[in-house]
Amino acid sequence: VLATIANELLAQIETFARHLQGRPLFVGCGTAFHAALSGVYFWQIIAKKAASAVAGSEFLYSRDVLSDQDFVTFISQSGETIDIVEHLPVLKERHIPFGAVVNRLGSTLERGSQHKVLLPAGAEQCVLATKSYTAMVAVLFLQAHEQAGTLQQGKAELLETVKELEPLLQPEYRTEHILPIADFLTKAEHVFLIGRGHSYPVALEAALKIKEVTYVHTEGFAGGELKHGVIALIEQGTPCIVFAPEGSEYEATISNALELKVRGAKIIGVSSKPSDAFDFFLPVDAVAQLSTITHAVVMQLVAYNMAIILGNDPDKPRNLAKSVTVK
Ligand code: G6P
Repeated sequence: VLATIANELLAQIETFARHLQGRPLFVGCGTAFHAALSGVYFWQIIAKKAASAVAGSEFLYSRDVLSDQDFVTFISQSGETIDIVEHLPVLKERHIPFGAVVNRLGSTLERGSQHKVLLPAGAEQCVLATKSYTAMVAVLFLQAHEQAGTLQQGKAELLETVKELEPLLQPEYRTEHILPIADFLTKAEHVFLIGRGHSYPVALEAALKIKEVTYVHTEGFAGGELKHGVIALIEQGTPCIVFAPEGSEYEATISNALELKVRGAKIIGVSSKPSDAFDFFLPVDAVAQLSTITHAVVMQLVAYNMAIILGNDPDKPRNLAKSVTVK
């Protein structure tokens, strides 16, 4: 799917960008909201432009202040989520420009949006959004590169990421790295995850994946935020997953990991660079901002394997629906 995006979607992304003139606001629900947050970081880091994101259910309270100087991008796998599609007629009536990044052709969002990028993720059977999420992130990454005038560089980095993902999907990686961590986490009462900068939305998304499919209490935080309250919950042996891609935020993230470790936390590091702070290590090769994708994929695998160990159906978690079409 990622290779298809890199090789076949650039024209769609360029066409979309021609209409994307105003202040960018990304809107999505659940996993799509986390992709929206990644979009904000990509715009800041790659395009050096301000952008913002809001959850679909909260957009109701911010849409009144928008004008024709804004551009809203709705992000959705199904294209049917009520907290997204209910806004289309209102924006149309008020002439607020909007577009869609959507996976389902023929969905309400796809049909109702003049400007769109259609994701090539195909049918996603699992209730948890997985390949649609990485596809959303890839498109938002390329959109930011388009804004920066570096679309070809973005394409090359995405194709590089496809290569880096290969070894992570092999059975050996599962046996050697994923399973011991999955096994350890299934015994936990609470799991906390931290990431800084563009790794912050990854922490949120990885936490969502684990809680959706394992029912273990799991929360993601910005690296520097845990110490403003939640650090009070850290006890001897509390697992904390730390996303530490190599780059400007590495040292600060490790220092946050050490703050947790001295209070007894067991640190699971996800990085291309080992650290003494890590009790467990998920090695993932460096791919700059696209660690958003590689780190999310290893955590999807951790969540999946935890579900299997716990005897849960990884495709159909309790109380969740693939598409939420009612308020
Ligand atoms: C439901 C699903 C989530 C999904 C969210 C948004 O809550 O369980 O996995 O992220 O809806 O769905 P959408 O189809 O709009 O991306």
